[in-house]
This record gives sequence, C-alpha cells and structure tokens, in this order.
Amino acid sequence: MDERHAGGLDPSLGLALVRVTESAALAAARWIGRGQKAAGDGAAVDAMRRALAHVAIDGVVVIGEGEKDEAPMLFNGEIVGSGRGPAVDIAVDPIEGTSLLAQSRPDAIAVIAVAPRGTMWSPGPAFYMSKLVVGAEAREAIEPGSLTLPVAKTLAAIAEAKRTAVEALTVYVLDKPRHAALITEILAAGARVVSRTEGDVMGALLAATPRSGVDVLMGTGGTPEGVIAATAVRALGGTMLVRLAPQKPGEREAVLASGVDLDRVLTERDLVRSADVLFAATGVTDGVLMRGVRYTASGAITDSILIRGTTGTRRRLEAEHRSEKLKRVTETD
Ligand code: FBP
Repeated sequence: MDERHAGGLDPSLGLALVRVTESAALAAARWIGRGQKAAGDGAAVDAMRRALAHVAIDGVVVIGEGEKDEAPMLFNGEIVGSGRGPAVDIAVDPIEGTSLLAQSRPDAIAVIAVAPRGTMWSPGPAFYMSKLVVGAEAREAIEPGSLTLPVAKTLAAIAEAKRTAVEALTVYVLDKPRHAALITEILAAGARVVSRTEGDVMGALLAATPRSGVDVLMGTGGTPEGVIAATAVRALGGTMLVRLAPQKPGEREAVLASGVDLDRVLTERDLVRSADVLFAATGVTDGVLMRGVRYTASGAITDSILIRGTTGTRRRLEAEHRSEKLKRVTETD
C-alpha cells in the first residue's frame, strides 16, 4: 500500500473495482434485449465473482445477491477477494435493472461499493425503505423530519438551498403503483418528475451528481440498493435519509421480530459509517451518466464511473477491450 494512504483504502483499489464492474457489464451485455433477465444477471454475477478473486482485498459481501440458499454466488457473508489486502465490506449489484437489461431500456448498470470492514449497515430481514436523496448543494435543506414532511415543503426548502424555483426541480421516482400519490404530490408542488421502472441506485447517483438534470430522489426502493447508493451519496457530499417501509407479506413482522425500530430515520452516515469508501459502476445499456457497452470490430468499449470518498473525486473511465478479453470474460466466442 502507498504509505500516504496508510490506514485507509489505497486509491489504486478503485481501478481494480472498475475492472470488476466492467467484467460484469461485458458479460451481461450479450443478454441485452433478449428478454431473459435471469440469464443476464447470472452472467454478470459469474463474471463479477471471477474478477473479484483477483482484487487485493480481504472482503466480506454485506450486500449481495441474497442469502446463501437462494444465491449460489456473491451471497451475503461470502468471503471474496485474493485475501491479501485490507479487510473490507463489499456491496454489489451485478446488474441494477435486470428488466432494463432484458428489454434493452436505458440505465442498466453493474455496481460495486467497498468500505472498511464493519462499516456497512446490514438490512437483515428488511427488503424495502423509503428514501430521500439530494446533492451537496441542497444538504442544508434536509432535516431528520424531511421524510415525513409534506413533499411541497421539502421541495421548497431544496429549491431555496439551490437558489432556484420548485418549478426548476426534477425529482426521480421509480415508476411503481405505490408511488402514485407521491407523484401527484410532486407534480402539484410544481416540480418535474422523471421516472424509470427500475433503478434507484441510478436515481440516487443522479440526485447526488451536480448538473445531472436530477435534483432529488424520492420514494420506496430496495434496502440493498439503499446501502450501495449511500456510499456514492456520501462520497459525493450529498445526503440521504431512509426509513424502513415494509412492502412484502411478512416483512413488517420479520423486521419487528429482529428488534429494529421501524420509525428510525437513518442517514448515509448510518448506512456506511466511514468516509473512506470507493464506488464503481459501469454502464450496460446507454444511460444519462454512462454509455452502455458498445461492440467494435476488435472488441468492445465500456464507460464507467469511479468515486472516492476521502476526496470526493469522480472519475469517468472509458476502456477499449480486445475481443480475446471479451471471450475470456463472457466465456463464449
Ligand atoms: P435489481 O437490482 O434487482 O434489478 O433492482 C432494481 C430496482 O428497481 C432497484 O433499483 C430498486 O431499489 C428495487 O428494484 C425496487 O424494488 P421493486 O421493483 O420490488 O419495487
């Protein structure tokens, strides 16, 4: 490890993580538009796991594909990495937006986040949480009660912090029946809504990224995606509020039985208790922040983002991969 970074994550680990998400994106890309989300996701999981084996970390998967019995690989608790390197927690979403991938719609991405061991929040039996994310410019507008305040009030505070009008704000909301009332409230307040059927890690990333065209993420999504998003939001200096919001049959009872307080509001700092985080994502299909995998005569091109928490640096990395590498990653001709 570089001595300047003694005690922290070596920044060069970031490039190794990008290679992991590139591998997942390349493996999944041949399933774009083939209507088979499980096959695309499976290819990304396999490729991500193979690539992770070469990364110099002693990693534990805290946010993975699920419990061991249901997920043969990258399951919660799985030990990953070469074993030589810093002890870290890992959060992965080999494909965020498996239906986006299967239907060739924008913004399917491969994602990984890393933080020092023991610093990532584990959702336990909770699958869903309500979320509010803004970028650094609007941090001051958010208070612990913001999740339960009328939407118009929160949007007015955000607009004021950003020195703009509510009418100029764009709110990202997942396009789900559970969000019908929320969308009505946002529109009534005068803001614009951008919605996607899937992808609230992408929504959080957009909300936390300056000049992305999205100012806020609101709504209920997955708890694993909440933890992954929190690393990016924290690294970019934005803020995130979440509160568990059970949706599945039996989820509320299971969460209460685990002793968790359903009313507790957590921030990005509770979801990842260290600023020393790395977040990497690679585009699978074309999107707002990253282009998808593009094939060329000699191989493929990927577009990735790498964010480092200790400095807040956000890098864009375009890579040209030769066809031999593609064959290795996808294990096909
Ligand atoms: P995947 O990573 O499984 O493709 O999830 C996509 C996603 O849209 C997340 O971004 C979001 O948090 C979650 O699903 C919402 O869950 P649901 O579709 O069950 O409402």
